[in-house]
Amino acid sequence: MTALTVVGGGIIGLSIAWRCVRRGLRVTVYDDGGDNGAWFAAAGMLAPAGETSFGQEALTGLLTESARRWPGFAAELGDDIGYDRSGALDVALTSDDLAEARRMWAYSERPEPLTASELREREPALSPRVRGGAFRPGDHQVDPRRTVAALRAALGDAVVAKRVSTIPDGPTVIAAGTGTAALTGLPVRPVKGLVLRLRGEPGLLRHVINGYVDGRHVYVVPRADGEVVVGATQEERADTTVAAGAVLELLRSATDLVPELAELELTETVVRHRPGTPDNAPLLGHWKDDVIVAAGHHRNGVLLAPVTADLIADLVRTGRPDPLLAAFTPGRFT
Ligand code: GLY
Repeated sequence: MTALTVVGGGIIGLSIAWRCVRRGLRVTVYDDGGDNGAWFAAAGMLAPAGETSFGQEALTGLLTESARRWPGFAAELGDDIGYDRSGALDVALTSDDLAEARRMWAYSERPEPLTASELREREPALSPRVRGGAFRPGDHQVDPRRTVAALRAALGDAVVAKRVSTIPDGPTVIAAGTGTAALTGLPVRPVKGLVLRLRGEPGLLRHVINGYVDGRHVYVVPRADGEVVVGATQEERADTTVAAGAVLELLRSATDLVPELAELELTETVVRHRPGTPDNAPLLGHWKDDVIVAAGHHRNGVLLAPVTADLIADLVRTGRPDPLLAAFTPGRFT
């Protein structure tokens, strides 16, 4: 039986390890045992159209393919990861915001446009000030913390608490997020994100909300248990400071859309770093010798976990890269 080492126990490393175990490989995951990964902050939106920019066709294709694989991935992993298919609403506060949202709709898979009153029928807690929006029935959500807990449980003692400073011998997958740069020299940089967690009675909101608010973007992700995740800032910085002004901005944008959020308890402010690459698409594939890299998922680590896990597990087993990996080779910047 082939033995594989996975360096990194975030959602990408664990998902790859889990898929490899299910394909009959003997796997050890080295992880620092903490919650340093981007997954710990992530809201868990599975929104393939919302997280790319113009001109990223290959990435959009990969996101769409992974969204397609999420229901099966979630079903195999179990009931307890908060997979929810209620869909998402794009919500624009001003007419300028609505014009911006419409430009995005023209580019992405077209959502179902909704008037302000149709939006408020679906989501009565929305402010009467909102101008319009759209429904995205195919955008789902999952709870990343519960997903990581389920993956850790499924892998059991295959996950070993160990900080790795050099690449281990033998077949290895480096899935170390921002730590990939120090291990490999590949260009993965930290992109700071602040995310808030609020808590109230369940049922205030039914959908994920992608907000366009006075030229700013905010997302509001309600969980079944009353938690509401509000995010996120995006800064080219490596520090972990929770800036008061950034909290204020996020809360102002969120409460402009859903005024009642101001009544909820603010339970958590969390900063983590998205692993970004020069083109903000992931590094996926053989890097050198026995080493495969799966890192740099930037804003899309949770969404891309299933397709990354499947394609990397197949690559480990067969040595042949799936055509879907062609645009994401780790060496493309050298
Ligand atoms: N995918 C959401 C974020 O990175 O903030």
